Amino acid sequence: MGILKALTKVRGGYPGGWREYARGYKKDGVDPFDQPVSPDDRRSQIPALGYPEYWYPAVPDKDVSWKKPVGLRLLGTDVTLFRDKSGQVQALWDYCPHRGVYLSWGDCFWKGYLSCPYHGATFDGDGECVEFITEGPDSKMVGQLKAKKFPTATLKGLVFIWMGEGEPVPPEEDLPPEFFEGETTLVLNTLRYWHCNWMIGLENQSDSHNCFWVHRNSLLQLRSRTGGRARTPLGYRSERVNDKATIPLRGAEQYYFEDGKMPYKLYYPRAQAYWPLHSWRLLWTWFFEFFDKRNTNRERFDTPEEWRGMRLPGMHRLYFGGPSAMYTRWCIPVDKDLTRVVYFRSMRIPTKLGRIWETVTYKLYRNWVAHYNFSDQDYDAMRSTRYQYPEYLSATDSHVVAQRRLMTDYARGGEKFKTVEVAKETTAEKLVADYNNQVAAMKPEVAAGTSRLMAGSTRPVTSDMAGEQGDKDNVV
Ligand code: FES
Ligand SMILES: [Fe+2]
Repeated sequence: MGILKALTKVRGGYPGGWREYARGYKKDGVDPFDQPVSPDDRRSQIPALGYPEYWYPAVPDKDVSWKKPVGLRLLGTDVTLFRDKSGQVQALWDYCPHRGVYLSWGDCFWKGYLSCPYHGATFDGDGECVEFITEGPDSKMVGQLKAKKFPTATLKGLVFIWMGEGEPVPPEEDLPPEFFEGETTLVLNTLRYWHCNWMIGLENQSDSHNCFWVHRNSLLQLRSRTGGRARTPLGYRSERVNDKATIPLRGAEQYYFEDGKMPYKLYYPRAQAYWPLHSWRLLWTWFFEFFDKRNTNRERFDTPEEWRGMRLPGMHRLYFGGPSAMYTRWCIPVDKDLTRVVYFRSMRIPTKLGRIWETVTYKLYRNWVAHYNFSDQDYDAMRSTRYQYPEYLSATDSHVVAQRRLMTDYARGGEKFKTVEVAKETTAEKLVADYNNQVAAMKPEVAAGTSRLMAGSTRPVTSDMAGEQGDKDNVV
């Protein structure tokens, strides 16, 4: 790259030719994020910078030294992290209350205290100004000046921050239960960035159908018979649990099954063609099926229902990468155009050796296979999603619909962001329900099995169920 640039300088002109700005100048290659405004669209009422009244993952504890503070932006707010006298990582608003400079550009000259780079105001872990170095020990600023503090908690090697204005809730309420379990529960983490809004990142995980399309050539899908195939035109029903999570109910996959099995190829009559185009991948799936069979016999990672599916404020939890592990993906707004993605892989492993093995294999390949090779394939779809324009949803977008409804109606502190009353049932929600009913009518026996709520019942899907089980009265 360096050589090319140098040559261009010699030649003159700019490097890219007409392609460079063919689509106009776009930062990170995409248009800035924008939201719809219609009260008929729930996306208009979800804050672009997230819901602050929650605990959020910040940084690995090991990345905060005794000497240098760390700067971090979450939910559009800059914080600085440093160690207090006891070694606990503390977070202050990255704003010196004296003249407003970044505290994160300062230093911890004295163990446990953070000094501002401008005039040396020095703060303890509570944000109290304990010394004002340039004014000497008689400074009257001491005890007067106060930096804004954000509560923190360090669990399993990760620092979490309470971003709210209100009193923090106990961390147990917002953070996955395995963070409070003993040392035999291992929680590994990975932090990544995506150039898209956090809602788009989060909805991507609720989007059931990209899995076998976008990822058809990922290593995980290549080893599976289901990779690259059509899935189902029937939407998943979702159930709201304790007003905190929404769980997709499985079973819709059965739609194209014949004799309990799904044919590998399907015929698309209008195009007069088959998909997938060829069956080469089946040559090696037998090898991996051996492992998969072994996996299905494993005991599932047990977790309460409200800690599965999409959980407020922005995580998804599911069995991905083996049933004995719980996968969590948490989309944290940095700015409206940038998302910090935090992954957890939680496992209960009784032996120390087993835990070391998991940690090593995670670093060697599991992390890459799941979070880079697989998940980053969604990156272009996410960053090119134009959120501000109308959508035309299908039955299979039902879990996305459910997720949006959970947020607008149940997110803690969410009232603050509501500018209009959203329609009780939006046009999109009606459409999703209608499509679901139409598809369900084509194969009622499959539709009846799509959820445990619907089990044994062939009654039509109501629009409330298109996305979620609206009222508990609806439960059958
Ligand atoms: S701005 Fe921080 S000490 Fe003056
Ligand atoms: Fe995906």
